[in-house]
Amino acid sequence: MKVVLYMAITANGYIAKENDETPWSDEEWDSFSNIAKKIGNLVIGRKTFEIMNQDDEFQQIGNPFTVIVSNKENNNSNFVNSPEQAIKLLEEKGFSEILVAGGGMLNSSFMQKGLVDEIYLDVEPFLFGKGIKLFADNEFETKLELLETKQLSKNTIQLHYRILK
Ligand SMILES: NC(=O)c1ccc[n+]([C@@H]2O[C@H](COP(=O)([O-])OP(=O)(O)OC[C@H]3O[C@@H](n4cnc5c(N)ncnc54)[C@H](OP(=O)(O)O)[C@@H]3O)[C@@H](O)[C@H]2O)c1
Repeated sequence: MKVVLYMAITANGYIAKENDETPWSDEEWDSFSNIAKKIGNLVIGRKTFEIMNQDDEFQQIGNPFTVIVSNKENNNSNFVNSPEQAIKLLEEKGFSEILVAGGGMLNSSFMQKGLVDEIYLDVEPFLFGKGIKLFADNEFETKLELLETKQLSKNTIQLHYRILK
C-alpha cells in the first residue's frame, strides 16, 4: 500500500490560519482535486472532515471514498480510530494507494508511525505568524528525497518528496 500525503502550505509551513481559514489558489485546489480523483480515496481527521463537509467540498473532488479518523464513537463505518485502521479499511476496499489530506494532527500521527511513503507540498505565497502547522508537534525525524518540483502558477510551487525509510 502506497500512502501519499498532500498539503497546501504557506512558505513557513502552516496549513491554515488559527481560525481555519485557508486562502489557497485555484491552481492548488485543481491539483489537489486531480490527485483525489485519480486515487479515489481520502483519509482525513475529524476536524478537517467537518470543515470539508460544511463547505460541500467532497463533490468538487469527485466524491472519493472518505475515511475519517476520530477517537469518538461513531456508527458510520467510514469512521475509524487510528491511521492503521484507515489503511486496513482501504486495503479491504481494494485500494493500492491512499491519499492522506490533513489536518495537522492527522498528518503528524501518520508520520510518527512511519506510515507515509510520499509527500506533495504546494507552497503558496503566504507567511502566517501563527496558525495550524503542517504537522502537529510530535516525536519524529525523516529524511526526504526530492522527486520533482512543479510550478503550479506564477506564485505557487509544488514539491514532491519520497520518504526515505
Ligand atoms: N492546507 C491544507 O492542504 C489543509 C488540508 C486539510 C486541512 N487543513 C486545515 O487543517 C485544520 C485542521 O487540522 P487539525 O490538526 O486541527 O485537525 P485534524 O487533524 O483535521 O482533526 C483532528 C481530529 O482528528 C482525529 N484524529 C487525528 N489523528 C488521530 C489519531 N491518530 N487517532 C484518532 N483520532 C485522530 C481527532 O478527532 P476526535 O477529536 O474526534 O477524536 C482529532 O481531534 C483546518 O483548519 C483545515 O482547514 C488544511
